[in-house]
Amino acid sequence: MQHTPGITGLGYYLPERVLTNAELERMVDTTDEWIVARTGIRERRIAPPEEAFSDLGLRAANRALHDAGVDPSELDMIIVATDTPDMIFPNTASLIQRGLGAWRAACFDLLAACSGFIYGLSVASQYVRSGTHEKILVVGGSLLSRITDWQDRNTCVLFGDGAGAAVVGRVEAGFGLLSVILGADGRGATHLSLPAGGSRLPASHETVEQGMHYLHMNGREVFKFAVRVFEEAAEEAIVQAGISKEDIDLFVPHQANIRIIEAAAKRYALPKEKVMVNLDRYGNISAATIPVALQEAREAGRVTKGDHILMAAFGAGLTYAAAVLRWAL
Ligand code: UT7
Repeated sequence: MQHTPGITGLGYYLPERVLTNAELERMVDTTDEWIVARTGIRERRIAPPEEAFSDLGLRAANRALHDAGVDPSELDMIIVATDTPDMIFPNTASLIQRGLGAWRAACFDLLAACSGFIYGLSVASQYVRSGTHEKILVVGGSLLSRITDWQDRNTCVLFGDGAGAAVVGRVEAGFGLLSVILGADGRGATHLSLPAGGSRLPASHETVEQGMHYLHMNGREVFKFAVRVFEEAAEEAIVQAGISKEDIDLFVPHQANIRIIEAAAKRYALPKEKVMVNLDRYGNISAATIPVALQEAREAGRVTKGDHILMAAFGAGLTYAAAVLRWAL
């Protein structure tokens, strides 16, 4: 028998420390005007040096479990979608399992960068749909400040730290995840990468000297890819869900650049009140952007049962993902 998968609880955690554009003006050759006009970002959160991604993810996970009314002992699986694991191995999911005491849960990480939350949601949903697993925790996010070159104005103004989490379980038929589109274009793999520290370029004095342990990005290429896939993947997700653009109650896009979000909103003729934007306060927090924005929309009373929520993301890979959820809570 097939079951209907959907989100049964959400939570997020953002570090307290706020880094403003004014502070960045004192660190690199940039201005608040440039950052706001070209990206829409005004401030971002930065985790303290003693914390790793699992610390952020664990707090988000506890909040999502509380929201879902699920005890850690009930979890069948933990999937962590991050591009900044605590270390290459063990996986960060196992570290979060240890923090939760979720001893029954299978654990693995999934790397689809900023598209990771929708990828994770998709994987979890397959297990729930097939009936082999009932309650799955998906944690998405990043501690991008750790891999940011704070002397590179092309990248350091864009990113922040944070984590979001969702419990994926069975929901009423007709609700939950109506469609998911996943994709990638590996030809763009070098446009956004962390070149060193893996098996291609293991850590060495040279790689550190050359700044190869920092995130490298060709912003313009990623921008072009993002605008294209936001249109195409979102369109496919809407068609696959069997709804039309007019049925969308809320668009929750990956929060990377306000210009990318506005282009998509224009294309779908979505008025401002149907588009969730919080990147002015958090910047780009990779796979956390969508769960954080979705939960903030709920907290603001912008999501009610039966709403059609369109989500879309893009990231390193280059990966992309889009999905339509019919809110079940
Ligand atoms: O989740 C996926 C993560 N990646 C992304 O989302 C990135 C997508 N790309 C973008 O959001 C945009 O391409 C950026 C915000 C990264 C850059 O905006 P842009 O409008 O594409 O600017 P640009 O790269 O074409 O640069 C325009 C100018 C350049 O100066 P010149 O060469 O025209 O003299 C840059 O050097 O702006 C300069 N610039 C800056 N100036 C002040 C680049 N960064 C800054 C800065 N402050 N922080």
